[in-house]
Amino acid sequence: MERAELTKAGSLKGEIIPPPDKSISHRAIMFASIAQGKSVVKNFLRAEDPISTMNAFRSMGIEIEEKAGNELIIHGKGLYGLKEPFDVIDCGNSGTTVRLISGILSGNPFFSVLTGDDSLKQRPMARVIAPLKEMGAGISARDGDKYLPIAIKGRRLKAIDYRMPVASAQVKSCLILAGLYADGTTAITELQKSRDHTERMLKSMGADIQIDDLVIKVKGRSGDMGLRPIDVTVPADFSSAAFFIAAALMVPNSEILIKNVCVNPTRTGMLEIIKNMGADVRVENVRDISGEPVADIHCKGNVNLKSVKIGKDIMPSLIDEFPILCVLATQAEGVTEIRGAEELRVKESDRIKAMATELKKLGVEVEEYPDGISIKGKASLKGNVVESYHDHRIAMSLAIAALAAEGTTTINNSSCVDISFPGFFEELKRITN
Ligand code: S3P
Repeated sequence: MERAELTKAGSLKGEIIPPPDKSISHRAIMFASIAQGKSVVKNFLRAEDPISTMNAFRSMGIEIEEKAGNELIIHGKGLYGLKEPFDVIDCGNSGTTVRLISGILSGNPFFSVLTGDDSLKQRPMARVIAPLKEMGAGISARDGDKYLPIAIKGRRLKAIDYRMPVASAQVKSCLILAGLYADGTTAITELQKSRDHTERMLKSMGADIQIDDLVIKVKGRSGDMGLRPIDVTVPADFSSAAFFIAAALMVPNSEILIKNVCVNPTRTGMLEIIKNMGADVRVENVRDISGEPVADIHCKGNVNLKSVKIGKDIMPSLIDEFPILCVLATQAEGVTEIRGAEELRVKESDRIKAMATELKKLGVEVEEYPDGISIKGKASLKGNVVESYHDHRIAMSLAIAALAAEGTTTINNSSCVDISFPGFFEELKRITN
């Protein structure tokens, strides 16, 4: 479980390429597995979450070769080529794995059971189970269809017209995947626009997907009409880059270049927020890699950050950046308020509670609301012993706070960074003076 000790930083300098995007890595494995033929995935994220997805598909008979340089060769067997797994599928800590796979398994004619670690077992699954049942899936779960384990007996599904009650790319993606197995056209209306990696990748593989603002229509396929294999290069993860962006803004005299970052607009709400805070951050050299916009992000410290109000509208595009934005807010003049963030209560940990509790330990004035938090800046942070709650993004956010805190900060259970960013502490050390 380990503990990390960090001290106040002088400055951050240099170049960094964050790890490959987690959302895209999951999707590449899943979609390539149900495509017809050989796919190549370059720069795959070799971290615990995507490895849960890889193990799941291997357990359903998919051959995945691991080559040098994080390249995978995936031998897809078509929409109906998966075989019944011999054992329970363990999704570990990964919400993306369990929710997206549920959509695929609901359309496959065999029995399967999904479970996960203690955190995942407490996260809400009714949000995918209820609409999948409406599509005719044979699916049930613990405690009145609310929590893992989930048992699925797949069968032919019917298309539905579904209005999503939550903004969630995982729910949307689950239903798009189930829609591939349904008779007719499934229409999904999002509550708010969420990350669209699923739509981009599946369309490039030949899926019949129409998007009109918040409405996504998926035409079901049957028999041997299937998805084409892919050859993709996964760009760096904006959500991992976010820790370094914040660090550069918080530590005086910093200047860093973060390269090859996916800047899909459904993911980069944080850039808009920090611009409003007064940050000097430039997005350069924007290009397209495998259907996703990619850029280099140039960050310079030495600015007087101002507090901001962050509301529900922008939340989906910065959903995973809540913890690091809380840390950044401690160094902004005035009270930063983040509201409409109730989804953060059901992530890998209750991230509102976790950040409120741990920032207080570092000497910050914080108020917690059911749907968010307010943070008073500019605070003089004082090192202390803090908890990660076994949540990778909490651990990494507190590590960045430590760089601006007097004395030593100890983060308990710090090895959870391996969920999305193996080598995080080493990378941070490399660019810190
Ligand atoms: C993800 C979607 C988001 C995000 C998660 C990854 C995805 O979850 O928080 O880290 O890959 O689709 P929700 O869709 O539940 O908001």
